Amino acid sequence: MPNTAKRSQHRALRQSQPPPPPHEKGQHTHTAATSALVLLEDGEIGTIGEASAGEQIGSGPPSPPQLVDRDDARSLWLYHGNCLELLDAIAAKYPQGRFDCIFADPPYFLSNGGITCHAGRMVKVDKGDWDKSRGPELNHEFNLEWLRRCQRALKPNGTIWISGTHHAIFSVGYALQQLGYKILNDIAWEKPNPPPNLSCRYFTHSTETILWAARNENSKHLFNYQAMKRVTGKQMKTVWNIGPPGNGEKCFGKHPTQKPVALVERCLLASTNEGDLVLDPFLGGGTTAVASVRLKRKCIGIELDAKNVEMAVKRVESAANEPNELFSLSGRKGEFPGEG
Ligand SMILES: C[S@@+](CC[C@H](N)C(=O)[O-])C[C@H]1O[C@@H](n2cnc3c(N)ncnc32)[C@H](O)[C@@H]1O
Repeated sequence: MPNTAKRSQHRALRQSQPPPPPHEKGQHTHTAATSALVLLEDGEIGTIGEASAGEQIGSGPPSPPQLVDRDDARSLWLYHGNCLELLDAIAAKYPQGRFDCIFADPPYFLSNGGITCHAGRMVKVDKGDWDKSRGPELNHEFNLEWLRRCQRALKPNGTIWISGTHHAIFSVGYALQQLGYKILNDIAWEKPNPPPNLSCRYFTHSTETILWAARNENSKHLFNYQAMKRVTGKQMKTVWNIGPPGNGEKCFGKHPTQKPVALVERCLLASTNEGDLVLDPFLGGGTTAVASVRLKRKCIGIELDAKNVEMAVKRVESAANEPNELFSLSGRKGEFPGEG
């Protein structure tokens, strides 16, 4: 079935210089005393008051974030910019929370000159500026900042999934505890074919952790127990063996830390129902948006880097055009996904 949905590409993406690290001290608070971000009815983000001295002009990601792709039929909205700003604007408009589920794959903080094996060759670990560590204190401060905002953006019974390696996941876990989230599970995502460890001084890294948490202790979280049981034939365990993204998932380009669609689909199937609203604050190449389209969930995603946003838009368009998908969602023009 061709995609006949109303889709609008809002504006050309600003091809920016590499963005400044989003989590450097002073960079992450964009709601300066003189200005505030507001989420407008059409999904654009406006500014009230005078522009703050901290706003970047001419380089880096747009501030405030820009809505660059919108598919009303599937309630799919993709933004280019800093998730902290988008989350502030959403919180101001929806103080009771907005999202049924958040899938977050934040910076790993592991691009610091180490080595790894890629396609049989020794290469430096360098996934981008966004992935450089600023030391444990600043990294943790950043994790607290975005997780605090995500907690406000979740509905009372909403849940969040966060993936990461040992470089960041302990800080994320501690931040969840500090903020009063309720940790529900820690999933070990086992990779069947990890790259070998070239130094032979460590075990081969072959897992990533995915934490699943509810907004707080009072949350009555959704768990689609039977749907998960159908996958394995018995109670699903917390070790998931899922291969890396296949070639078909990379035909619009490669993101250096791209997650397999199957992994995100499993998370969404476990914790949401059709028509629920999902947020990905670190969208990367768009995996969560693709999984949402395939599972008929509504989705809002935001990504800092223009090239990644471009890739996400192409992948989402392609997923929307996949045959054998019967899309039942409808959204009215100008309506913020999940409204009503
Ligand atoms: C680990 S990757 C996500 C990969 C994604 N799950 C996928 O499958 O393609 C993290 C992404 O977050 C983006 N990012 C980092 N800081 C951000 C911020 N403050 N706001 C929005 N995006 C950010 C980076 O540019 C990077 O693409």
